[in-house]
Amino acid sequence: MTEEHFIPKTYSKTLENGSFTWSSPSNIALVKYWGKKEHQIPENPSVSFTLDYCKTTTTLSFSKKENNDTFSFDVFLENEQKDDFKPKIETFFKRIESYMPFLKDYHFKIETSNSFPHSSGIASSASGMSALALCLMSVEQSLGEVEVTEAYFNQKASFLSRLGSGSACRSIEGDVIVWGTHQEIDGSSDFFGIKYPFDVHQNFKNYQDSILLVDKGEKQVSSTVGHNLMHDHPFAERRFEQAHENMSKLISIFKTGDLDAFIKIVESEALTLHAMMMTSMPYFILMKPNTLEIINKIWAYRIETNSKVCFTLDAGANVHVLYPESEKESVMEFIKNELVTHCQNEHYISDQIGFGANQIQL
Ligand code: PMV
Repeated sequence: MTEEHFIPKTYSKTLENGSFTWSSPSNIALVKYWGKKEHQIPENPSVSFTLDYCKTTTTLSFSKKENNDTFSFDVFLENEQKDDFKPKIETFFKRIESYMPFLKDYHFKIETSNSFPHSSGIASSASGMSALALCLMSVEQSLGEVEVTEAYFNQKASFLSRLGSGSACRSIEGDVIVWGTHQEIDGSSDFFGIKYPFDVHQNFKNYQDSILLVDKGEKQVSSTVGHNLMHDHPFAERRFEQAHENMSKLISIFKTGDLDAFIKIVESEALTLHAMMMTSMPYFILMKPNTLEIINKIWAYRIETNSKVCFTLDAGANVHVLYPESEKESVMEFIKNELVTHCQNEHYISDQIGFGANQIQL
């Protein structure tokens, strides 16, 4: 399949105006996407758990405009106009214009809200871009694009989301999502995310993710800058190979439910992501002292109690604490008693992996 597949053939209807609302979740990568080629093509495959609570809800209203030579839109976050979001959306529109040829025909009002605090340091780009892509797919569907089956709808929504923010393409469908071609996973693609096609052991059902907010500030390094640091990075090629190897290992871990092996891959992936940033030029340290305090306490707790709790990190200082549902009570106690003290204003968000339908049209 090529990108041409997503260029619509004909629209059989005309629409003066309308509005659609979608809610879409965030996701947390286990094997990390870090490094991309042109057109948001990932350098390596990644796999993520979809989150159940952390979501963005977006209403896209549209009305036909006179001329069709520019993009025209306004953005609101929690009812407040946000002109600083516009450049990112303008870039997104430019990237997807050939796949959504109606974009310049309408003025859009984009009203968005998050289930988590905006200033929490939690990246909202995955849930935000996927919610917007789903709304645009609904517009296309109502224009009578002939090809739109449910499978095509989701695939193209993921394809478009990727062009907004790479990891957003893993927020469209299902609970465990793979993005990027991997030789053992039939149907995996660099263009869009797919539902992980093999068995996932009961041990991972309702897996818990408590997000410890160590630093709620703006990201020190934007992910665009971060991905670009992988160009000419001395360890890049080996890292991309390692991601393929870790994906292969996870396939059997998901099947057997081997949580000790799961922990090794997940923590190593998180530390590798940060190691890549520490060894790029320029170099960055995105962990804070409290990130390390939390990691060390998790390791000590694991030795003391034989727990299967582990951590993963995004490109920032916050810590995602992952643990099986069977340990929910004990690990929550541990978090409250020992870890929240390392969070900014003692803030954390408890989430879990969504095993059902994640995005909802409202
Ligand atoms: O989607 P982006 O371009 O913001 O990249 C996100 C990359 C990580 O969150 C660090 C890892 C991942 O796979 O989600």
